[in-house]
Amino acid sequence: MSQIAETKDVASLSPEEARDELARLAKALHVANKAYHQEDAPALSDADYDSLKRRNAGIERRFPDLKRDDSPSEQVGAAPSEGFRKVRHSVPMLSLDNAFEESDVVEFDRSVRKFLGMTESDPLAYTAEPKIDGLSLSLRYENGQLVNAATRGDGAIGEDVTSNALTIRDVPERIKSAPELLEVRGEAYMSHEDFAALNARQAESDEKVFANPRNAAAGSLRQLDSRITSRRPLRFFAYAWGDVSEALADTQAAAITRLKDVGFATNPLMALCDGTADLVAHYRRIEEMRATLNYDIDGVVYKVNDLGLQARLGFRSTTPRWAIAHKFPAELAWTRLEAIDIQVGRTGALSPVARLSPVTVGGVVVSNATLHNEDYVAGRDANGNEIRGGKDIRAGDLVQIYRAGDVIPKVADVDLSRRHKGAMPFEFPRKCPECGSPAIREEGDAVRRCTGGLVCRAQAVEKLKHFVSRGAFDIEGLGAKQVEDFHDRGWIAEPADIFLLEARNREGEMRLSDVDGWGERSADKLFAAIRERRRIEFHRFLFGLGIRHLGEVAAKDLARHFIDWPTLAAAALEAAREPAVDDASQAALDGSPAWKEFLSIDGVGRTLVRSLVLTMDQEAECASVERLAKHLEIVPPDARASDSPVAGKAIVFTGTLSRMTRNEAKARAEALGARVSGSVSAKTDLVVAGPGAGSKVRKAAELGVETMEEDDWLALIGDA
Ligand code: IVH
Repeated sequence: MSQIAETKDVASLSPEEARDELARLAKALHVANKAYHQEDAPALSDADYDSLKRRNAGIERRFPDLKRDDSPSEQVGAAPSEGFRKVRHSVPMLSLDNAFEESDVVEFDRSVRKFLGMTESDPLAYTAEPKIDGLSLSLRYENGQLVNAATRGDGAIGEDVTSNALTIRDVPERIKSAPELLEVRGEAYMSHEDFAALNARQAESDEKVFANPRNAAAGSLRQLDSRITSRRPLRFFAYAWGDVSEALADTQAAAITRLKDVGFATNPLMALCDGTADLVAHYRRIEEMRATLNYDIDGVVYKVNDLGLQARLGFRSTTPRWAIAHKFPAELAWTRLEAIDIQVGRTGALSPVARLSPVTVGGVVVSNATLHNEDYVAGRDANGNEIRGGKDIRAGDLVQIYRAGDVIPKVADVDLSRRHKGAMPFEFPRKCPECGSPAIREEGDAVRRCTGGLVCRAQAVEKLKHFVSRGAFDIEGLGAKQVEDFHDRGWIAEPADIFLLEARNREGEMRLSDVDGWGERSADKLFAAIRERRRIEFHRFLFGLGIRHLGEVAAKDLARHFIDWPTLAAAALEAAREPAVDDASQAALDGSPAWKEFLSIDGVGRTLVRSLVLTMDQEAECASVERLAKHLEIVPPDARASDSPVAGKAIVFTGTLSRMTRNEAKARAEALGARVSGSVSAKTDLVVAGPGAGSKVRKAAELGVETMEEDDWLALIGDA
């Protein structure tokens, strides 16, 4: 018998009735989905299921405002045809810093203690647990109900994979005795058994086999059709949390126990440790068990146990200060080096790349390895010292490949006994293989560079590719392939041109819809995606410029410090006005106010500042950036920071602080969107002075800058 009760016509429903019915339908469809996908025991006939879905969609069409966050029309069954919906994480999903050696672990503990003002003998407990080699997932529960599941994405925005997450046995759809709002974070992974069975099935049906369980898990979770995901059994370990309406516990260990009690699978190998010796001992234990585990792990994660201390330690731009991943040693394998290719990067660097006979290194198939630069190929390091015992690398050599985690594989060794007679040393090109311009190597630079500038197609295209890449403008529909095509058609030569495409198309200067693979609809979609990026976060804009040494992390650090582009550009121009930028005059430069300000930023060093200054000092570069900026609204990276009364303010700390270390005070202020500087000037908004403060307070008084004591500062930022 049909389970569908007779219902009122959608047109005659009141909003209250509609809301109630949508809630009922959401529940019924979730239950049906779970039964179908996880228990392999359909609770509804296909016809009844479809009828419930149609009813739900009909009510949503009539009352679009009442559409629920967990609306069944977004989930299971009907796969969205155009990819996954994007979800902004309310608390960013960060990554972890890595430790490779025991000394890195000692240094981690030291830096935690230093930040907190603790001595070496103060007790400080950590948890240590396996680092699961899967992919991270954030599960949001409201009133005990799973409302969405999202992948990490770029850390700020992930993809909505709710229907797929529901197929995971370890992901409860409902939880009991949990906070009203709870975001559970952890790792989705595939067990070794399930991986072997999946690959056997794939091979049998002549479909793609996966290189390792992580790829299989990622491929399965990112399936548009959740019915396919449900046939690829995934598992989930909870190890962290995001947004919560109330604290889970006082310690990391207790919080994980709480997650376990609520109904999540947690890893049984987590231990509480005292001090670094204890951490490393647990690391060794887990390393020994590694081969016997039924899932892949690639290290051990250490976390400060006390959640109060975690909160004080806070975050750098992409990693917490209170945790670190101690990675297992790299994997090695031998293979044949087929050829050495030269790639030209966006800054003109000529990079040698080893093309290899594909080889599996620690479960991953590797066919390329970096050869860094010409010295490295020749068997020397940057200082002219021998590496690999001075052995050079030649095409045809048998080479040993080294792979550590996600880092690009390297060539660790060469078997000279297997070298072919007549194999010639690699001759590094003196001309750019792309544009033929001279490739020169400046003194002190390990890298040979093409001097062609924007004349060099490779440089221009690589710059544009970088501009549209994920950490930068990330324009949907404009990937590497399209950038090459548009560049070669003469439509885009520099980033600013991307924002002119729509107008040029409208005015008939070009016709995107005439190009193979494009139509009116896809062209409009691309223009909409470009329009959307006219409003861009400051750090993405900065990273997108493709300035040498300016990575994503440094871009975030600079953005956090300078808040807006005009302030940063003015500071860089001021720094550029200082005398010649070279090593000899560096000491004098460090003392100049502009350089001092840059160097006071955590994570910003001389090499980066020099590169930034050199870029801003080149008229053509500067003009190109300004042409771009004209099209954009550049927004401060963290909108939440603007709620604080100190957001955007320039602060100087001086004297002894009693409630926290100087580093902690600085990190806290920066997290609230303030800029912390080491010296007082007319641009300073506030001086926070502790006992022993002297000249800076006097200077503040002279300049009429407000000064306050530590307690008043804490009251101001709400930490009193
Ligand atoms: S804690 C704030 N614990 O490793 C950071 N991460 O390299 C919270 N991972 O993106 C992460 N096992 O996907 C944590 N036991 C574990 C983990 C773990 C695996 C992953 C996670 C993260 C990545 C960082």
